[in-house]
Parts: sequence; structure tokens; C-alpha cells
Amino acid sequence: MDSSHSPSHPPYDREKSRRDFLVLTAAAMGAVAAGSAVWPLVDQMNPAADTLALATTEVDVGTLQDGQTLTAIWRGKPVFIHRRSPADLAAIRGEEWQSLRDPQSDEARVQKGHDAFLVLIGVCTHLGCIPMGSKVGQPKGDYNGFFCPCHGSHYDASGRIRKGPAPKNMDVPPYSFLSETLIRIG
Ligand code: FES
Repeated sequence: MDSSHSPSHPPYDREKSRRDFLVLTAAAMGAVAAGSAVWPLVDQMNPAADTLALATTEVDVGTLQDGQTLTAIWRGKPVFIHRRSPADLAAIRGEEWQSLRDPQSDEARVQKGHDAFLVLIGVCTHLGCIPMGSKVGQPKGDYNGFFCPCHGSHYDASGRIRKGPAPKNMDVPPYSFLSETLIRIG
């Protein structure tokens, strides 16, 4: 009997199986790629129940030192809470703001009596990357604030756009001080 033509594994079937495998592999990879592209859209349209439930977030800033930033999450977005030193605050207050791209005074972006604390949604207003500058050692950009590495937007220590493609200042979420050290966002 000729073993090279075994009825269970004829040469033709082996080649066909190999082609089927390649086609299936390509289809699977295509499905993965399509899944990755579609997910962010689906995710945006259907915020998770726990995200919706977090309409407010309370943050204790009692241990935050001058120059430090902590990141909270509010409605699924990062919120930077940055404590400015007296020197940094004096510097930002001394700058002319009327001719900035998105003119806004520092006073209008913080709460009176808690001027050292800057509270910002940590999302670049260009295309939505998370700017750097909230962690020790990260670049703060040319204006001692935050730097978006995606396309090079520089924000100052008030979160105002100073250089790069971003059209607007970083957003300030609604927030209030429940005590000297407790902030409620939302
Ligand atoms: S997303 Fe920040 S500069 Fe483009």
C-alpha cells in the first residue's frame, strides 16, 4: 500500500487546511483590529454605571505640599489638584493675561480664599491627551505648569494655554471646599 497517499491525509487536503488556517488567522487579526477601533466609540456612548454614579468626588488635600499635584478621578476623567507655592502664585498673578489665547485671570480660575489650590480637568483641550507635569520629574512645559507631549501644548500654573495647538485653557470642573482641606468635585 502507498503510505504517501493515506486516505486520511491526502496531499491536497494538507494544502487546503494550511490555506484555511491562514485565512482564519487573517480574519481573526482583522476582528481584533476592528474591535480596537470601535471600542473607544462604544465606550464613549455607554459610560459605565459606576462612572455615572460618581457624580461627585471628595478629595482630602491636607497632606498636599507646595508644588505637589494629586490626581483624582471624577466622572472617569483625571482631575489635577495642584498646590502652588506663595512664590508661584505671586508670579502667576503678576503676569498680564488679557492678551492670552484664551484670556482668563488666575483669580477667575480658583476659589477665593483657597487661591493656592488649582483644580483642573487633566485633559488637553487639543485632542484629549493627558498632559504631563502632575508627577515628580515630569516636564512642566515652558510656563511651569503642564505640558502635553502629544503635539506640544504648554499650559501655565493656572492651566491656561500659552503655546502649542490647544485652543483653550484646561477646564476647571465645578468644585467647592467642604472644609479647609476637603474638596468636593462635582
Ligand atoms: S492633544 Fe495635547 S497637544 Fe494635541
